[in-house]
Amino acid sequence: MAIYYNQEQRTFHLQNDKISYIMSIMRNGQLGHLYFGKRVNDNNHFTRMHVMAKRGFTCYAYEGDTTFSLDLMRQEYPSYGTTDFREPAFQISQENGSRITDFKYKSHRIYSGKPELTDLPATYVESPEEAETLEIHLLDDVINCKIILYYSIFKDYAAIARSAQFINHSHEELNLTRALSMSIDLPDSDYDMVYLAGKWTRECHLKKRPLNAGLQGISSSRGASSSIQNPFFALAREKTDENVGEVYGFSFVYSGNFLGQVEVNFDDEARVSMGINPFDFNWLLTSSESFQTPEVVLTYSDRGFNGMSQTYHSLYRNRLVKSSWRDQVRPILINNWEATYFDFTESQILKLAQEAKDLGIELFVLDDGWFGQRHDNTSSLGDWFPNKEKLPHGIKGLAEKIEDLGLKFGLWFEPEMISKKSILFEKHPDWRIQVINRPLSHGRNQYILDFTREEVVNYVFDMMAQILDDAPVSYVKWDMNRFMTEVGSLALPPKRQGEVAHRYILGVYRLYRKLSHAFPNILFESCASGGGRFDPGMLYHAPQTWTSDDTDAIERTMIQYGTSYVYPLSSMGSHVSAVPNHQVGRMTPLSTRGNVAYFGTFGYELDVTSMTDEEKEEVKEQIAFFKENRLLIRQGLFYRMDNPFDKKRNFTSWMVVSEDQKEALVGYYYLLAQPDTRYDILNLTGLDTDQLYRIEGMDGEYFGDELMQIGVIIHGKKDFHSGLLRLKAIDK
Ligand code: DGJ
Repeated sequence: MAIYYNQEQRTFHLQNDKISYIMSIMRNGQLGHLYFGKRVNDNNHFTRMHVMAKRGFTCYAYEGDTTFSLDLMRQEYPSYGTTDFREPAFQISQENGSRITDFKYKSHRIYSGKPELTDLPATYVESPEEAETLEIHLLDDVINCKIILYYSIFKDYAAIARSAQFINHSHEELNLTRALSMSIDLPDSDYDMVYLAGKWTRECHLKKRPLNAGLQGISSSRGASSSIQNPFFALAREKTDENVGEVYGFSFVYSGNFLGQVEVNFDDEARVSMGINPFDFNWLLTSSESFQTPEVVLTYSDRGFNGMSQTYHSLYRNRLVKSSWRDQVRPILINNWEATYFDFTESQILKLAQEAKDLGIELFVLDDGWFGQRHDNTSSLGDWFPNKEKLPHGIKGLAEKIEDLGLKFGLWFEPEMISKKSILFEKHPDWRIQVINRPLSHGRNQYILDFTREEVVNYVFDMMAQILDDAPVSYVKWDMNRFMTEVGSLALPPKRQGEVAHRYILGVYRLYRKLSHAFPNILFESCASGGGRFDPGMLYHAPQTWTSDDTDAIERTMIQYGTSYVYPLSSMGSHVSAVPNHQVGRMTPLSTRGNVAYFGTFGYELDVTSMTDEEKEEVKEQIAFFKENRLLIRQGLFYRMDNPFDKKRNFTSWMVVSEDQKEALVGYYYLLAQPDTRYDILNLTGLDTDQLYRIEGMDGEYFGDELMQIGVIIHGKKDFHSGLLRLKAIDK
């Protein structure tokens, strides 16, 4: 890994053994983009790539000179208003009304390691040798404002992290109306845009469309990254599949409003940009203030989508998750939500916990309904003290009893919310996100606390800390169940109202930081009605996320398949639930529910006390199986094989292979029952071609190449929904 600066050519080259990223200082002092992709050797003539072919009908920067137009240059962090007509990376509105800027190269720094981003989640290193960072300092001397562009290249990952910082050195007030984290101009647009879209209970469905002239993109303006579109997209060459082909990935380490966009110009070049959504955003930068954008992690793979995902999985698992739980085995949990909903008593909970313990489960999670007067979703958010009718011995009493059974105890909170029917609301009606003189819309009968205010975050922290100090709580499920409307804060002046959505997310991160600092051993699971905020920003604080409120095994093959494009199995909350399934009414065998849930953090969410003895035996076996395989599932390389969105196939499959290729676990699933089916052939992947493997329950020994090229025959019988293959290498 190295970052080269060529003084003569004024080029920068970031390089590791997988990728190269090259840019230059252009003739006008601004930054130009030259190359991003598979590694190339360093050389001293990369500016030859800055060809500006002569064109009709454009505008030029220098009088009497038709050789330099930004319209025709590939750039790094472009602005609007001079000779480039595409959408810029940033825009600054000035006191005189101008929005024109000219940020020229001033200096740069290259150093080992990677800096932290103040108040923001970001990838990190544990020793300086793991990454190298380039800071490029740009200055607009007319407005005396500085931009620092940060580029960090990792030694072991085909990834670059980018962000930008704005510093106002002038005496005037500047308004950032757009401050994206990155922009890059690719030389052609022959790509498919692949992204994850959906809704509540249908998160992260895989979508694909070819790039076309003009603007296309993904975004959120909901105050959360959202289940509608995940803050990620990939650009892949047309024939790219899971294992073959070139892919660029763009993943935003942020949990709020975002924009990910590609603009294809008249020459079919593609401007790719990503950052905080400029829509409804305005950040006032007074004299000597600075603004740091969140980071985007760019990846490159020449091994298809699996190559891209494996980079994100290992980078995020090892160098994004910050919790003390990063490297620990996660407990198999049972959550009472689908078993009881709001309606439970202490003795019912203890019965569930006892049964769970007997089955081999390790953690009991008490979900919504334990606090205030919470009997349905109309009240009590903000009153974080136990309901003594349901829990006469409080959370402390219950948690201690559960610990005595030999289980760990976890608790649900929805810290960012307030119900009108609550003591908190009586005391602080002004603590909601709201706009003066306007009625307030609700979502699930609840309102959002104004986390832009430090005193609100502190107050919620104190309430939660009281419970967490008092009772042995090992796990917190942090839920968030509505999007943001009437975006405003009574605590901020009019000219700062455009900052509310971002300041709110900074408040959410602040509370996470305070809690993680005070309770370093608590495992946090984030949740937003399922995957409504499944993003890298959350992952930094909470190493796992409840993937979806849809627990149907078949729906989950799609949701988990899509989610795995970016997020590691160790982050995906996945539970076995009851049938008929509560969301879709489908009947699936217990084995299939287990076979899907294994490929995640694994747990149960059903009334285990009402299961038959036969079912209980099967659950015991599932738990024993998961315990035996959980290290492989957590640390192995995950490969997707058959895509559930490919409707022709009626089939999903995936597998995990240990890093030394000695072990593997395959999951395969029929999506719809079909009559009179033939057999199917499963071509495995990721194995060592010359290694002999044995497959549990099958006769024979097979070389890796045979299993990958010729495949394994599996049978689609009528009542047959799914299966697993467990492979072990035979020592030679
Ligand atoms: C939404 C979550 O996704 C569910 O798992 C559950 O915790 C409910 N909220 C509780 O209100």
